[in-house]
Amino acid sequence: MNFHTRKWVKPEDLNPNGSLFGGSLLRWIDEEAAIYAIVQLENPKVVTKYMSEINFVSSAKQGDIIELGITATAFGTTSITMCCEVRNKITRKSILTIDKIVFVNINDYGDPTPHGKTKIKYIDEQFEDLGN
Ligand SMILES: CC(C)(COP(=O)(O)OP(=O)(O)OC[C@H]1O[C@@H](n2cnc3c(N)ncnc32)[C@H](O)[C@@H]1OP(=O)(O)O)[C@@H](O)C(=O)NCCC(=O)NCCS
Repeated sequence: MNFHTRKWVKPEDLNPNGSLFGGSLLRWIDEEAAIYAIVQLENPKVVTKYMSEINFVSSAKQGDIIELGITATAFGTTSITMCCEVRNKITRKSILTIDKIVFVNINDYGDPTPHGKTKIKYIDEQFEDLGN
């Protein structure tokens, strides 16, 4: 799993107990998963369909640097399934895991549409396709 995105936990990200607010973290994850799905499916129109059980393993506090990891686990006809882990960048301690996040590839009318993808495409391959 590649941990592409890092976040620095700031005061505005905290809950009233002074630790990272779960809602802030889920917002970041949803955006990260959307970007991952857009890149993999090569379509900017994707929507969140389903998220499985979310396990908040341990808390993060102000000043922590955390990193978000997403990887595809299955390609369906119109969907892509991903799993996610968030961990502390310095200690590698797990903060959250989600087994299943499903995004659906849609057309201009918002209907599910086949994406034609079957496997993960890595950055280098994407640049090769562009002739670079
Ligand atoms: C996404 C949406 C277009 C899908 O419409 P739908 O009628 O459910 O579509 P389908 O039943 O054809 O399913 C589409 C794909 O999602 C998958 N899917 C549907 N329900 C699922 C579920 N509960 N769990 C996992 N996958 C699911 C299907 O297996 C299918 O994948 P496949 O084509 O790869 O086999 C529609 O549900 C929608 O617009 N939802 C709202 C999306 C949204 O606004 N998200 C942001 C919420 S904050």
